[in-house]
Amino acid sequence: MRTPVIAGNWKLFKTVAEAISLVNELKPLVEHTTGVEIVVAPVFTALSRVSETVAGSKIMMSAQDCYWEAEGAFTGEVSPKLLADVGCSHIIIGHSERRQFFGETDDTVNRKVKATVAAGLTAIMCVGETLAEREADATFDVIEKQLRDGLLGLNAGDFVRIIVAYEPVWAIGTGKTATDDQAQEVHVFIRGFIRQLIGGDSAEALRILYGGSVKPENIKKLMEQPDIDGALVGGASLKADSFAGIVNFG
Ligand code: G3P
Repeated sequence: MRTPVIAGNWKLFKTVAEAISLVNELKPLVEHTTGVEIVVAPVFTALSRVSETVAGSKIMMSAQDCYWEAEGAFTGEVSPKLLADVGCSHIIIGHSERRQFFGETDDTVNRKVKATVAAGLTAIMCVGETLAEREADATFDVIEKQLRDGLLGLNAGDFVRIIVAYEPVWAIGTGKTATDDQAQEVHVFIRGFIRQLIGGDSAEALRILYGGSVKPENIKKLMEQPDIDGALVGGASLKADSFAGIVNFG
């Protein structure tokens, strides 16, 4: 049995005051939720205050990126060690927006996943194909390369601290959700690849989240798919009632 995870990626939205008010609205809406891990990922500047605000609640906190060195002369960067210090339990790594706009590669993803796991945090590692790649029938090749290179050198023990998020780039912020079957098909592929790479136990325990225009209206069907273990939510995580509607999908 895999415990579902619903994670809200707030991207570049919310001032500190707005972030606190969102979490304060969310808390009562999820206080009776059971059997779901709830994660929110605010911008760096809001982490410290959000951490204080979620303390004692069921809500865990993630960062949206990190650097792989713990400390040093790396101006502008933030390490897993410092994110743990401020109360993060998770770090999103390799989001397609970072791959598209900020030069993230499978190699940097790999370094960041390793550093995150080594710091005792959980990496939410994102993979996904573009529309052109899907139309060229390259979806599985793209996902396989992202997984193989991004997870290089990690072993079965590390996998307790890894979550994979499948986010087809064409479904992000577009209102187009992959159909339940399309998502399930890729999730099965991901689990099968991890089975070959690391072994059956890790593959069976691995949580694989779907991301891309997830809303309260479509979460239930997605969660009925046997290999979809939760969601990484963008737009709909920015409002307490819609995010709670996704968290409380059952
Ligand atoms: O990381 C979440 C994401 O990229 C999906 O965004 O707005 O389509 O739910 P959205």
